[in-house]
Amino acid sequence: MRDVLARAPGRVNLIGDHTDTSGGWCLPMAIDLATEVRGTRGGYEVFLQSESEPMPAVVPIEIVDIPSPLPLWARYVAGVVAELRPTTGFHGTVRSDLPTGAGLSSSAALEVAVALALGFEGGAVDLARLCQRAEQRAVGVPCGIMDQLASTSGRDGHALLLDCASLDVKAVPMPPDVEVIAVHSGDERMLATSAYGERRRDVEAGIAVVGLLRATSMRDLDQIDDEIIRRRARHVVSENDRTREAATALASGDVSAVGELMKESHASLRDDFEVSTPNLDALVEHLVALPGVLGARMTGAGFGGCVVALCRPGAVTPGLRTWRLKPSGPASVCDGLLRS
Ligand code: GLA
Repeated sequence: MRDVLARAPGRVNLIGDHTDTSGGWCLPMAIDLATEVRGTRGGYEVFLQSESEPMPAVVPIEIVDIPSPLPLWARYVAGVVAELRPTTGFHGTVRSDLPTGAGLSSSAALEVAVALALGFEGGAVDLARLCQRAEQRAVGVPCGIMDQLASTSGRDGHALLLDCASLDVKAVPMPPDVEVIAVHSGDERMLATSAYGERRRDVEAGIAVVGLLRATSMRDLDQIDDEIIRRRARHVVSENDRTREAATALASGDVSAVGELMKESHASLRDDFEVSTPNLDALVEHLVALPGVLGARMTGAGFGGCVVALCRPGAVTPGLRTWRLKPSGPASVCDGLLRS
């Protein structure tokens, strides 16, 4: 029997939110908080006991439809099993230091770690695609690919410029004189019940008028009559521009420029895309007023979760619900001989 240990990082998105679903750009980094799945392959079901959940996930390997009474975390496991269709089962444990519902991609990390533990073979992009489908199937949220691709493509010391149309990943070195901090707003978010799908439909309505948003200029948006749809599209078009600009600024070490772009991104997510909350807004305002904080914004889907801040070292002290995040390497798996 083989002992398998799979590990997948979460991610924090520095800039470029709600752009992946329309083939735009985003700039996340894989982080040093991660999920681990450990155990042995064999049998005809996947049995996983999580350190932080009372009920185990028990999923037959031939599962197709995911039964609704399954606990949320077990649904992600079932989604991966249904997409991967492994030939053998698995018996093991899950542990994670990623907070859930915080916008740091605990669900993507779980999906990627489970797929690797179950024997996924292939490249980073295919693994990310499989796990994106698993998430969509598990919770019915039409999510993009950013979270899964960041987890499978992480690079130590680098942020990742993702082109969500070509799925090209460009590693951008993080300058040594800055830190990335995430602070929880106190608002727990649930993607499935949030307006994520509604926003995606708004963006598609904009695309129906002006075409691909990644190739649209701000001027073209005047063609959209509906005021709400125009604001949603304006967020995406401006965020795509900010994201590429931020990647260039980061690569040249112009961290002040990155900070300013992060502030603009937050305003756009708050006013045009309307996915922020009063607590996220207050936290951003508080953080950007601190000496040494270059910029801050909500990160991920919004509707709660974390704010990400780019800071000079020591500007914000880690603590309860405040994490200093290091840009980390990709998900990995090792199969060793079972130790008895
Ligand atoms: C969630 C989704 C991603 C992305 C972000 C917003 O994390 O899973 O695909 O759309 O929201 O940028």
